Formats: sequence, C-alpha cells, structure tokens
Amino acid sequence: MKTSYNVGIVGATGMVGQRFIELLKEHPWFNIAVLAASSRSAGKTYREAVGARWAMDTEMPAKVADMIVMDAEADAEKIAESVDFIFCAVDMKKEDIRALEEKYARLECPVVSNNSAHRHTKDVPMIIPEVNPEHLEIIESQRKRLGTKKGFIAVKSNCSIQSYVPALHPLMKYGITKVLATTYQAISGAGKTFETWPEMVDNLIPFIGGEEEKSEVEPLKVWGKIEGDEIVDATEPSITTQCLRVPVTNGHTAAVFVSFEETPSIEQIKEDWKNFAGEPQDLELPLAPKQFIHYFEEDNRPQAKLDRMLENGMAVSVGRLRPDKQYDYKFVCLSHNTLRGAAGGGVLLAELLAKKGYFD
Ligand SMILES: NC(=O)c1ccc[n+]([C@@H]2O[C@H](COP(=O)([O-])OP(=O)(O)OC[C@H]3O[C@@H](n4cnc5c(N)ncnc54)[C@H](OP(=O)(O)O)[C@@H]3O)[C@@H](O)[C@H]2O)c1
Repeated sequence: MKTSYNVGIVGATGMVGQRFIELLKEHPWFNIAVLAASSRSAGKTYREAVGARWAMDTEMPAKVADMIVMDAEADAEKIAESVDFIFCAVDMKKEDIRALEEKYARLECPVVSNNSAHRHTKDVPMIIPEVNPEHLEIIESQRKRLGTKKGFIAVKSNCSIQSYVPALHPLMKYGITKVLATTYQAISGAGKTFETWPEMVDNLIPFIGGEEEKSEVEPLKVWGKIEGDEIVDATEPSITTQCLRVPVTNGHTAAVFVSFEETPSIEQIKEDWKNFAGEPQDLELPLAPKQFIHYFEEDNRPQAKLDRMLENGMAVSVGRLRPDKQYDYKFVCLSHNTLRGAAGGGVLLAELLAKKGYFD
C-alpha cells in the first residue's frame, strides 16, 4: 500500500457525506482531495452548498469549508483523474446510482459505496469488514466483467443489519435456524434531524420503505460464498424483521430472537462475543474498534444515547441476553447508524481495501 491516498467524497453535502468529512479530516492514510454533489451544489464553496444542513456536533473543518464542490455527474472524468478512489453516498434513483458508480469504476476509479443500488450485483462484494472480508476476492471477477485494471465497486450493507449480523456471526457455528429482529431506527438514517423532521418529536412511525426486505435479505449475501464469478447467497437462517422509525437522533437498536440446531449456553455465547475479532482488529486498521462486541450486564443497557459512541461509534453494544419461551434466546443490540452503519463502515472497508493493495 501507499503511505497516503487522495479521496473524493461524492454526496459530500448529505448526512453521510458530512460524516465522511468528520472521519477523514485527520485520517492517517486518506486525504480529502475532491468534494462532489449534485449540479445544485456544484461551483459553490462547500460551506455555501451545505448551508444550514450541517448536522455534525463539531464545527465544519476549515480544510473543506472553502473547497469548491464539483458536479458528480458532469465532472466525473476530472474527479476520477484526481483521486485514488471515491466514497459514494448519494440520494438519487437506484438506476442512476448504479450507472454513476459503474461510470467511475470504468474510469478506473474504485468506488466504496454506501448506496443500496449495487448491493445485489453478483460480483460486487457487500462487506462488513469483521464478518466477510474474504468476499473481496470477487473484485477480480468484477474487474474482468467491467474490463478494468483498477476500477471496481465495493459496498457496505444497510445500517439496519449492522448490529445483529455482527452479534449473530460468531454464533453461526451452532447452526442458527431462525432469527426474528425488530429494529428501532434513528432519524439520521433518513438523512434527517429533529429540526428538519419535527413530526418525529414524540412519535414513532411503523414503516421505513424497503427496510424490512433489506434487513431480511442482505445478511444472506454477507453470509454467502464465492462460486465462480459470483457471490451465491446463503439459504439459511430464516430471518424475519419489522423496522420502526423512532425519535432518536443517532443509533439503531434491534431486539433479536434466535434459535439454534445445537443450543449453546449463555456463558458460551458471551465468551464468543468477547472473543470475536476479525481482520480489522488483526491488521490494526485505524478505525477498527479494539473490542468489536461489548456486552453489558446491566439490564437497562445498551441505550442509544449512552452507548452509540462506544469506540468512536464503531463498536456494537449488546445486552439483555436471556432464554425465550418460543426461541432459544433473545437479546438487544445497538450500533451507530451513520458511523458503523454508514460512513464509518465505509471508511473501515476502504482501510481494509487499502491495506490489501486494492487501490494501488
Ligand atoms: N443516513 C444514513 O444513516 C444512511 C445509512 C446507510 C446508507 N445510507 C445511504 O447513503 C446515501 C445518502 O444518504 P444521506 O442520508 O446522506 O442522504 P442526504 O442527506 O439526502 O444527501 C444526499 C446527497 O446526494 C447528493 N445528490 C442528490 N442528487 C444528486 C445527483 N443527481 N448527483 C450527485 N449527487 C446528488 C446530494 O447533493 P446536493 O446537496 O447537491 O443535493 C447530497 O450530497 C443514500 O443512498 C442512503 O440510502 C444512508
């Protein structure tokens, strides 16, 4: 790997784009070289383009405030030439995102994507770095299809599954037969704050478009296997979900029920969670949490407000593991949706790609 990489943020003015800026402002390997968004923002300084939408708790970094925002579509060639890879998090029609990401990849500019458009493209890896880093090997097949030497697309999964897939993964060896998960999702997941979405104060909305399908299907790709030039989805476990929007700024919680072929003890499960470390920990990637899964013995934890920032918002918090009458066990888990679940997960994926030489 090189010592430093120039990166572009496409969708830089949005909620996830702002998180990328926060995470990258002092990153040891990645230097923000380009900010891009729609034609509405292009040509303006980043400060002007974002205006009142800046939603981070910290000040906008001076380094980016005066950068001129580029047009992600019209300036694609110029952007691709001036960076080593891009992060992409845009709010556009799915087919337009698919085309935009493929355009960058074909311009030999790798794309690390937070969008859902390519999550089910068979040769695009969908990565939770601690869970399925071996899926990066499919990039060779994707490059063959695209006719590229360097360009490719790698995606991260939906924010809703980022708490319960990591918690279930080290338990897969017991043969998980079925999972029921209800998610309680923060408003930042819709790119919103209480100022921009006052209807959410003192409210709960029992529907998030497309979220239940993603929450049930995406884990099966993450747990899938490479066969030839494709990732073939796992067929088990059976997963059913309900996804609710709740009046929380950041942090998606999931209440999970699970059954096994060979039921482990509570102590075994806690031990598996404690010992669960993956390549990000082994490689000591800059954004990797030291302890990926934190188990709380207190019965009123994890709480979104108290625990979402654990390990800089990159850890998963779990609590309330206990036997259930219908399933073997139930527990509650939490992850920060715009950090681990979005920009942080994207940066960690990029760190893994950099360390393995995919940007060189
Ligand atoms: N928020 C989360 O927790 C979360 C989690 C995981 C994944 N995601 C995904 O990340 C993506 C972005 O989400 P968000 O919450 O950041 O959305 P957002 O706050 O609405 O921001 C959308 C971004 O897309 C840009 N954009 C819109 N149309 C464009 C175009 N035609 N060309 C180029 N850029 C365009 C916007 O630029 P302008 O300012 O110029 O309009 C803005 O930068 C979505 O695909 C979302 O599903 C979000």
